[in-house]
Amino acid sequence: MYKERIRLPRLLDKVVSADTAAGLIRDGMTVGMSGFTRAGDCKEVPFALARRAASEPLRITLMTGASLGNDIDKVLAQADVIARRLPFQSDETLRRKINAGEVMFIDQHLSETVEQLRSGQIAPVDVAVVEAVAITEQGGIVPSTSVGNSASFAMLARKVIVEINLNMPLGLEGFHDIYFPVQRPYRQPIPLISAEQRIGLPYIPIDPEKIAAIVITGKDDSPSSALPPDEGTRQIAGHLSEFLGREVRAGRLSPSLQPLQAGIGTISNAVLHGLIDSPFHDLKMYSEVLQDSTIELLDSGRLTFASASSVTLSRPVYQHFLANLERYRSRLVLRPQEISNHPEILRRLGLITINTALECDIYGNVNSTHVGGTHMMNGIGGSGDFARNAHLSVFVTKSVAKGGDISSIVPMVSHVDHTEHDVDVIVTEHGLADLRGLAPRERARQVIDNCADPAYRDVLNNYFRRASRLGGQTPHLLEEALSWHVRYRDQRTMRESVPHEAMAA
Ligand code: COA
Repeated sequence: MYKERIRLPRLLDKVVSADTAAGLIRDGMTVGMSGFTRAGDCKEVPFALARRAASEPLRITLMTGASLGNDIDKVLAQADVIARRLPFQSDETLRRKINAGEVMFIDQHLSETVEQLRSGQIAPVDVAVVEAVAITEQGGIVPSTSVGNSASFAMLARKVIVEINLNMPLGLEGFHDIYFPVQRPYRQPIPLISAEQRIGLPYIPIDPEKIAAIVITGKDDSPSSALPPDEGTRQIAGHLSEFLGREVRAGRLSPSLQPLQAGIGTISNAVLHGLIDSPFHDLKMYSEVLQDSTIELLDSGRLTFASASSVTLSRPVYQHFLANLERYRSRLVLRPQEISNHPEILRRLGLITINTALECDIYGNVNSTHVGGTHMMNGIGGSGDFARNAHLSVFVTKSVAKGGDISSIVPMVSHVDHTEHDVDVIVTEHGLADLRGLAPRERARQVIDNCADPAYRDVLNNYFRRASRLGGQTPHLLEEALSWHVRYRDQRTMRESVPHEAMAA
């Protein structure tokens, strides 16, 4: 069965058990594994590492494309295998270890990891572990449901372990477009000028002599953790759709908009889902991850092409996608994350980017990563790559969290991932703040009046009024600016964060 997938005959004798393959990974090594937002991760070698760590010291630096599924980060964290982790994660157990200071987490723009590896700015990859559907006649690796950083990990590593996943249909071959930018200082423009263009190879071209072990696996990707749309996310989608409609009527966008990017998670997925009933047509996506909404938009005919680095789907949509690959072959491409997120290409294509904020402040600064300013949630992922280089950078969030005890609109964000300079539009279920061309004092009125929850609006307005009296381009009461976060930390609510006498002022 697996023999038809290893088409270079001399590699057949590299097939070994996961435990034997994992033996190539020694204590202290840097390991680059495939996997991007739960898609295309390795299904056996990580668990063999966790088993081995029970009987011998084994701590590694683990690099991936982005987050992993199948509880890999959880199992490796529990087994204490992960000493350092980059560039993104979304696992609860690992998050706890990161926030306890037990795992060093390097939260990176997803376009940057391999650029830093290639130029020797971060420790080199000793062993790459890559999930594949096949190995070609020349020894090229055909990835599965994501490309992520796998291509560069395999090119740069000293040794490569390939996991051939028999559960992944061979029909995935041909969906990938693997391109490597030329080394600096000889870098040329990346020749990609439209979302649907192909500029590379359908496999990862490596020297087959580097393939040190092949493991046969047969597990599915984990389903997406995005929740279905609810009333709040439908309202957010509605506000954004109306706004884009106005942009079309004003002649600033065409009815096919600009290529779309949508971040991972419940809200972004719901916002894209909302486009199914919109008047826009012939849409294209140039994103890093494709969620259920992309497949639904492709099926509805509203979306004509989708480019990304991974497909992360719920169980039924995953099965539908894999069973109907031919339907999507000419309309979907998977690229290395360095290319899906490359600032040069994003700026050229002019995307409408839709990413999620944990919180925004009244002047438009956005925190997407740090709960309460200190505790890591997931990481910046690709949101910074996209927001800074967008044609139109949109951030969405519900106006409150934790049953209303947290206002997602605050006087000052407790951590800044996206500065006011990278944020054009903020949308909550209450409305939309169009910040383009506005000065900070003008932005504050838009954000408070249109986006904040009514329960927090007066307090925010009061803060803004009193701060404005002190003057400044971006008025703040420094001793009070972060008090909402302190209040939530100590009292588990941001409510009544301004004393009554101040309210009266
Ligand atoms: N303070 C504390 N917690 C907050 C919060 C705030 N201001 N706002 C939201 N949360 C909590 C929610 O309560 C929820 O926690 P729970 O599951 O325990 O209830 C959690 O954050 C997720 O919020 P949700 O509203 O469901 O949004 P989401 O699933 O869309 O995720 C992010 C939101 C910001 C965590 C997520 O989009 C992310 O990690 N973004 C950074 C990476 C990124 O944008 N990549 C883009 C390219 S893929």
